[in-house]
Amino acid sequence: MKSLVPATRSNILKAAEIIKSGGVVSFPTETVYGLGADALNSDAVARIFEIKNRPSFDPLIVHIANINDIKKICHFIPKAAKKLMLYFWPGPLSIVLKKKSVIPDIVTSGLDTVAVRMPNNHIALQLIMKSNTAIAAPSANPFGYLSPTNAAHVSLQLGTKLDLILDGGSTKYGIESTIVSFNHGNPVILRIGSLPIEQIESVIGKVQIMTSSSGQKLQSPGQMARHYSPTTPLKLITSKTKFPSDKSSGLLAFRSPRTSKHFKTIEILSKKGDLREAAANLFGCLHRLERKKLDIIFAEPVPETGLGRAIMDRLRRAAA
Ligand code: TXA
Ligand code: MG
Repeated sequence: MKSLVPATRSNILKAAEIIKSGGVVSFPTETVYGLGADALNSDAVARIFEIKNRPSFDPLIVHIANINDIKKICHFIPKAAKKLMLYFWPGPLSIVLKKKSVIPDIVTSGLDTVAVRMPNNHIALQLIMKSNTAIAAPSANPFGYLSPTNAAHVSLQLGTKLDLILDGGSTKYGIESTIVSFNHGNPVILRIGSLPIEQIESVIGKVQIMTSSSGQKLQSPGQMARHYSPTTPLKLITSKTKFPSDKSSGLLAFRSPRTSKHFKTIEILSKKGDLREAAANLFGCLHRLERKKLDIIFAEPVPETGLGRAIMDRLRRAAA
């Protein structure tokens, strides 16, 4: 069976039938491609962990297509969480709340909380609606590696293991959703992502950010020091960086680079220096650099405001 198909109406219906019967389907969201299964079916969810080679301690995000479905999944929804949903859903924001027992333990790795989001992509929304369930979906990449921002990335990394890949073109944002937890009452950012923190704070005020260096217990494996990594070593450029002449090096430039003499290949995130465009291109550029089989990839830092924080977060983890 050919597993990579265009996301036409009839293929979305076919994908929904696969989800209903316990299969695993890759589909686009506005952030990255997901690897989805029926969130209420433990066996189907187990296959996601198997396919991704994902450790069982790393919980999945549950995707819904209707804001009211949150009540079927979560117990108590604090006011500030409700506000965020109303402002930003559908959109690149995952919210962690106390879970109801309909969500099997395997989805949440035994935690009493669940991360939920409503994606802003019509293919994803149609798929969830037609499947008549909630869809548990991590990013569609082997655990720890580069996230997929188009269907070819999924096909190359996991193709043979999936029942179907819905091709919906390149994803709009290119970086995973921002994760906010209300587990202990006050909002805490567990993962910096496509929804800038400034926007969240403009709605609910100051939020705490839990970085892996803040010394608190790790709550989100997306916070692991090394994650989102290409197989080629990656280094962030600083004022002290020396470029080796005896190695084949690649450059991940933010805008047009000042010099190209040290590098065999150059990928530019955004010629005009636009952070949204840079975020959308990040993983695609890294996938291409990885395929060049270079000895090392050097990455230029980007300004750390808005989406620049999410880009720098991913680059630091890729370099760790
Ligand atoms: O943009 C996205 O969020 C994409 C698309 C497919 O929706 N999904 C995604 O999933 O990035 P994944 O599995 O690659 O990352 C999910 C992160 C993990 O780091 C996981 O630890 C965290 O969400 N997470 C899930 N449930 C959690 C929970 N109950 N408490 C804390 N962290 C949780
Ligand atoms: Mg992931």
